[in-house]
Amino acid sequence: MEASEQPAASAGPTPATRAPLATELQAAAQTLERVRAGRSLPPSMDEAAQRWRLEGVSRAALYDISCTAVRRLGTAGALAGRLNSRQPSPALAALQLVALSELLAPGRRHEAVVVDQAVEAARLTAGTRAGAGFLNATLRRFLRERPVLMAAIAHDQEARWNHPRWWIDRLRNEHPGRWEAILAAGNVPPPLTLRVNLRRATVEDCLRELEAAGHPGRRIGPQAIRLDRPCDVSRLPGFAQGRLSVQDLAAQMAAPLLDLQPGQRVLDACAAPGGKSAHVLELADAELLALDSDAGRLQRVHENLARLGLSAQVACGDARRTADWWDGRRFDRILLDAPCSASGIVRRHPEIRWLRRRRDLATLSAVQSEMLAALWPLLEPGGKLLYATCSVFRCEGDEPVERFLAGRTDAERVELRWRWPGDAQDGAVGQLLPAAGEQIDHDGFFYASIRKIP
Ligand SMILES: C[S@@+](CC[C@H](N)C(=O)[O-])C[C@H]1O[C@@H](n2cnc3c(N)ncnc32)[C@H](O)[C@@H]1O
Repeated sequence: MEASEQPAASAGPTPATRAPLATELQAAAQTLERVRAGRSLPPSMDEAAQRWRLEGVSRAALYDISCTAVRRLGTAGALAGRLNSRQPSPALAALQLVALSELLAPGRRHEAVVVDQAVEAARLTAGTRAGAGFLNATLRRFLRERPVLMAAIAHDQEARWNHPRWWIDRLRNEHPGRWEAILAAGNVPPPLTLRVNLRRATVEDCLRELEAAGHPGRRIGPQAIRLDRPCDVSRLPGFAQGRLSVQDLAAQMAAPLLDLQPGQRVLDACAAPGGKSAHVLELADAELLALDSDAGRLQRVHENLARLGLSAQVACGDARRTADWWDGRRFDRILLDAPCSASGIVRRHPEIRWLRRRRDLATLSAVQSEMLAALWPLLEPGGKLLYATCSVFRCEGDEPVERFLAGRTDAERVELRWRWPGDAQDGAVGQLLPAAGEQIDHDGFFYASIRKIP
């Protein structure tokens, strides 16, 4: 980093002071530049926050501006293509995209302030300073010619839906009646859904405690509370004390769908950061092995279990190489929450859609099949394996399951059923499509239960 990119110590915000919008825009632009170069959003944001010493409100603003820019990258990119007569540097291009995405969000900020602060932001670094005039001219042109420019990109699918073209086509093909709702759900910020640790509290007690602390919410599942307004979870009463965890409603279905009985031996084959492992242990006195191939992420499993007052055996290993870690004792239940495209949780990880490549899906699908085949011998006859992915693509849902079942005589798919609050009876579940902003709000997920025929 150039010395000129570092704000002077005296100019940096203290935790109590808010940085100028220009600084937040520049930090968001540096975040976006990294994402466009293939990095994921959280570390890119952390780096930018550190570089510009953004804390508290300004850090939250950086998060908001960066996520908004990623969620509107299709539209902003198409507009930039029309506005730019020459290709700006990656740093300047990112700043222009961030500013355009702010201008595209109706009522967020005064347009003149955004343009003024974006130009100020350009002056903050050596890499963008020379482009301040260019930025000023293109942003003002956008404001002047907005209707014409928006009409010109109206038929561009990426601009319309803010997802890559191949992703849109796949969804349209696989979910003809729901593809637009799925894409729209991916473009809105997610709610904050909590899971109550029933070993330490009841849902009703937690709702009361949260309401009293100014965080009202409502029950949307057996252990699930959705807060009316997202907030910093570490400050919620009950979080540090292990009464609450953050977990989307769709992910909260895994442990109940495992059909647990006391004393069972359970394998969570892809466990980190431990959300579903912890839920299993909150619901049943099980002997659980939490396995994951990522040692760094396994640290989070230890932390989460400790916070919630739960214990499990935690091991690092490849779920496909069972000889490396299996002690030879079979499991009554196996949860395979397999690595996947994460196409069902793009509202939480908005950059995923831009980072994922179409070819990744075949690789992931093959890994999912390998995991199913490798873990099957570890299941006790009569036992059940719950296969899960946070995906809305068939190649990570029904397809690997059907491939696995084909020609096997010792495996049968068991129907999974779930009762949603307000419904008179339960219904079959498998591919859950994201339901955003609805009464029952959840991510996209896939579940299939496979029983080993004794
Ligand atoms: C969807 S995440 C699991 C989320 C977790 N079940 C939870 O609820 O908190 C998938 C996990 O699979 C792990 N993983 C990827 N490849 C693996 C492999 N070959 N063996 C075991 N774990 C693997 C990743 O490190 C990641 O933590």
